[in-house]
Amino acid sequence: MDSGWHQWNTKNKRNGNKKMNIKQVEDKYFMHTYRRSNLVIKKAKNQFIWDEKGKKYLDFFSGISVCNIGHCNEAVIKAAKAQLGSFAHVSNLYYAPVQIKLGEELAKRSFPQARVFLSNSGAEANECAIKLARKFGFLNPSKSAKRYEIICFNNSFHGRSMATVSATGQQRFHEYLKPLQEKFVFAEVNNIDSVKELVNDRTVAVMIEPIQGEGGIIPAEKTFLKELREFCDDKNLLLILDEIQCGIGRTGKFYAFESYDVRPDIVTIAKSLANGLPLGATIAGEKCAEIFV
Ligand SMILES: Cc1ncc(COP(=O)(O)O)c(C=O)c1O
Repeated sequence: MDSGWHQWNTKNKRNGNKKMNIKQVEDKYFMHTYRRSNLVIKKAKNQFIWDEKGKKYLDFFSGISVCNIGHCNEAVIKAAKAQLGSFAHVSNLYYAPVQIKLGEELAKRSFPQARVFLSNSGAEANECAIKLARKFGFLNPSKSAKRYEIICFNNSFHGRSMATVSATGQQRFHEYLKPLQEKFVFAEVNNIDSVKELVNDRTVAVMIEPIQGEGGIIPAEKTFLKELREFCDDKNLLLILDEIQCGIGRTGKFYAFESYDVRPDIVTIAKSLANGLPLGATIAGEKCAEIFV
């Protein structure tokens, strides 16, 4: 191990008062869920990060699209400090001015008659979208059945909660977790026939990342998203766009869907919404904005 690695004594019986480096401590005390590279981050500013030996890197990851407006952004620091100095949290049973202002900004930016639900993460934003679709299906059943099925896509990623992992179209995330939550079925991105094959009288929504992130940077084609929109309109299905990774300026526009000329019924965002602080949002348009009461 490099000599520059953080070392510290963690004085407890579990490691026998031994001096351990950061990798050993992580290995001993964390669940083994991430394969980290051998890089200890000391500081970050704008698009750069520095390791503990002072080596500078251009950070193309931005925390996997979490710090899209740069690390230690001055405006974010100022706003966060000001808010923490007033109050960090009050119950949603009261009015918090910054929260209400954010909701207004997001609704206005998104689509007409939009309403917003705020949460703490992308997984929660997608959970909310799934629940919204479930209730939409409950209130708008087909002639022969309740509607609750959601068509998702192979190679997608929608989060680590039980519902969102079930909606994720990658087997490796499903291992050991079965039975998964009902009912998500998987089509192929850029193949409208594969979507049409899956639809039935229980289908209520289609959920897609306009540009798949975790699955490799795979954009949906413009014609495909348009066909998907038309198909959803035709079958009275909700079109849910997961823009948690590709939204908030990552493609140059605020939403990726702005480049597609397609408007979803629900869009979910998180990650860079607060540039690293935990925040998620589910924004619903006119078809389903009034569903939750
Ligand atoms: C497209 C997409 N959806 C959802 C999520 C889950 O977001 P979070 O990690 O904030 O729960 C991610 C996270 O990588 C993502 O890339």
